[in-house]
Amino acid sequence: MNAPLPAPAPAAAPADLVSRRVAGHSLEAPFYVSDEFFRLDIEAVFARSWIFAAAEAELPEPGDYITVDIGPYSVIAVRDDDENVRAFHNVCRHRGARILNDERGSVGNIVCGYHHWTYGVDGTLLHAESQAPGFDPSCFGLRAVHARTVAGLVFLCLAPEPPADFDEFASTVEPYLAPHNLPRAKVAAQTDLVEHANWKLTMENNRECYHCAGHPELQRCYFPLYNFTEDEVPPALRTTFARFRRADAEARATYESLGLPYAAVEELDTRPTGFRIEREPLDMAGESFTYDGTAAVKRLLADFPTARLGHLGLHLQPNAWFHVAADHAVLFSVVPLAADRTLVRTTWLVHADAEEGTDYDLDTLTGVWATTNEQDAVFVARAQRGIGSPAYVPGPYSPTESQVEDFVNWYVSRLKAHLETDVTAERKAERKADRTAELEER
Ligand code: FES
Ligand SMILES: [Fe+2]
Repeated sequence: MNAPLPAPAPAAAPADLVSRRVAGHSLEAPFYVSDEFFRLDIEAVFARSWIFAAAEAELPEPGDYITVDIGPYSVIAVRDDDENVRAFHNVCRHRGARILNDERGSVGNIVCGYHHWTYGVDGTLLHAESQAPGFDPSCFGLRAVHARTVAGLVFLCLAPEPPADFDEFASTVEPYLAPHNLPRAKVAAQTDLVEHANWKLTMENNRECYHCAGHPELQRCYFPLYNFTEDEVPPALRTTFARFRRADAEARATYESLGLPYAAVEELDTRPTGFRIEREPLDMAGESFTYDGTAAVKRLLADFPTARLGHLGLHLQPNAWFHVAADHAVLFSVVPLAADRTLVRTTWLVHADAEEGTDYDLDTLTGVWATTNEQDAVFVARAQRGIGSPAYVPGPYSPTESQVEDFVNWYVSRLKAHLETDVTAERKAERKADRTAELEER
């Protein structure tokens, strides 16, 4: 029975809201609507975790760069002359100006537009005009940001000491991704969609297919069977489930014969770099994310003997998911812009030699996910509006939403770790101040 609304409670501190979170339920409203949580999420989650930033294919040549803005941070990711991807804070070491102001481009050197301090693509300061004698350029290189590439994907971490478990993540997912040759792919399309919702609603929405009836186009090629065991499958999906079982048996035999890893590895809330990876069949022709499931690109990403490989699904906390088929890969990154605005960037990769118009039609390649993105943007905007009402109270997740619960668990554990570190640092500082005062009194 619905109770009348109680009088609004006084605002609780983030630490209290974190500690009283009820497992199995959506979060309380301030997590999604308050500026205080927005800042905390940047500080505790986005500035401390490994973040998916780009495909290597976006930086094909030395000097190619992108800039990535995360809260108050701006980062340059650039391919250096040795063809490695490096990253730097986009802040001049002279008087702090933002150096590169475009989203992407290509440079010989990185030149600040203010007083023209000039840095190499390895971050070293090469030139600063009219300095006093004794000025040492080696003290004023760009401040580095941790950058790693894994099988064609670029990850950044703003923390001075990034989560050490990234190596385990990389060594686990690399054998799944490597056969698809993504470092040598090219970008066929990229879209930026600003969703009117908190970034966590975007991620939560992606972690369940409970709402997939709202994606009729996606459902033609994608089995919407998240986490259902045979006895949990709802009546409306029983025929689909039977078709999935047959496709799955065939796909496993194909994966075995080609030596493609496919087993699910699920570490969504058990480590700082939470992730899930699995190779699974697709419906209909089983080849790609198209309306009939046939490959969208004639030239496959690698020399596969068949296009009927389903898709490799990878989820990474906090900001990415990926679908890699035989013919293309589609990469999604999520960047918080404000408490109620989130950037979803979608990138489609195809073989570097595949030609638009000959090997693929862009609308066919992008249609399913572009349409799905638009539908998801409507769902999460509705969620944001509802949660903004004083009538909102957290509701329960169903069993098929267990990966939403995993995401929220992971998120809450990151906030707890951050808040505890902060408290510990504060207590240490207080104890030190007390000891100093004691010594002074003596
Ligand atoms: S602030 Fe960049 S050169 Fe002066
Ligand atoms: Fe969706």
